[in-house]
Amino acid sequence: MTELLKNSPETSWPQKHFFLLAEHFDSAKILFKGKGFFRKPLEYVRGGVLRLKHEDIFKDLPTLETERLILRKMTPDDAEDVFAYASEPDVAKFVPWEVHRSLEDSRRFVDNVLKLYEAGKPAPWAIEWKENGKMIGTIDYVAWYPGHFRAEIGFILSKAYWGKGIAPEAARKVMEFGFERMGLNRIEAECMAENVQSQRALQKLGMRLEGISRQKYFIKGKFRDMALYSILKQEFEREAGKRPGARP
Ligand SMILES: CC(C)(COP(=O)(O)OP(=O)(O)OC[C@H]1O[C@@H](n2cnc3c(N)ncnc32)[C@H](O)[C@@H]1OP(=O)(O)O)[C@@H](O)C(=O)NCCC(=O)NCCS
Repeated sequence: MTELLKNSPETSWPQKHFFLLAEHFDSAKILFKGKGFFRKPLEYVRGGVLRLKHEDIFKDLPTLETERLILRKMTPDDAEDVFAYASEPDVAKFVPWEVHRSLEDSRRFVDNVLKLYEAGKPAPWAIEWKENGKMIGTIDYVAWYPGHFRAEIGFILSKAYWGKGIAPEAARKVMEFGFERMGLNRIEAECMAENVQSQRALQKLGMRLEGISRQKYFIKGKFRDMALYSILKQEFEREAGKRPGARP
């Protein structure tokens, strides 16, 4: 079908341009969903740039799987698991949100996430530990700039699960999704400079420290220096090729 349309004399040049871009980014599957087959491509190639929209990804956040984890949409039943880790002061120490003081705080958080899904806005995946089915954290694209093919990633994990390489395992999958399905060229992450655990996790992902933004945010009563890390698509693919089990 795509071949036929691409080569038909009836197909206008913006539509042909769209097919070329879609092939390039291997995202035809995302773009072809829904109705308005002919109108949609024109929206996306306006200005000569392929532009996915937030709702193309976040309206129906897909489930991803790794060896030990399931990354899935959050549900109202997750509130108790959220409370179990978000009420831990060490977990909230280097993040902008306050430690959860009651199950009600966690319910409110889950409700907000469900509203973001509904609105097709950037929202977290729940990290589920396969072994016991518990939700043990979140990972998300906290910001996405489709026009610049760039997004920012963030993660939080229950303290009981620290030090097992879980955040890097989840992040690798989410980054693979970002580069392959969201058409990203660059993924960045920002954490408080004093958050050495997070910096280590980012380094394990092959991300590079680009610099420290001095006193960038005022969080929990202090000006905080922020470390900015990034990885480009070509670097990620190179790293992936080096990992055990990668295809030659
Ligand atoms: C940052 C975070 C997600 C890392 O997740 P993780 O799955 O534990 O990551 P890793 O297993 O790769 O461990 C990263 C580093 O944390 C440190 N670490 C591991 N276990 C630890 C523990 N129990 N206590 C303190 N530090 C620990 C180690 O330095 C480790 O590096 P190493 O493996 O080279 O020794 C997790 O620590 C966390 O949720 N922290 C609180 C929330 C947060 O700060 N999120 C980031 C916001 S930008």
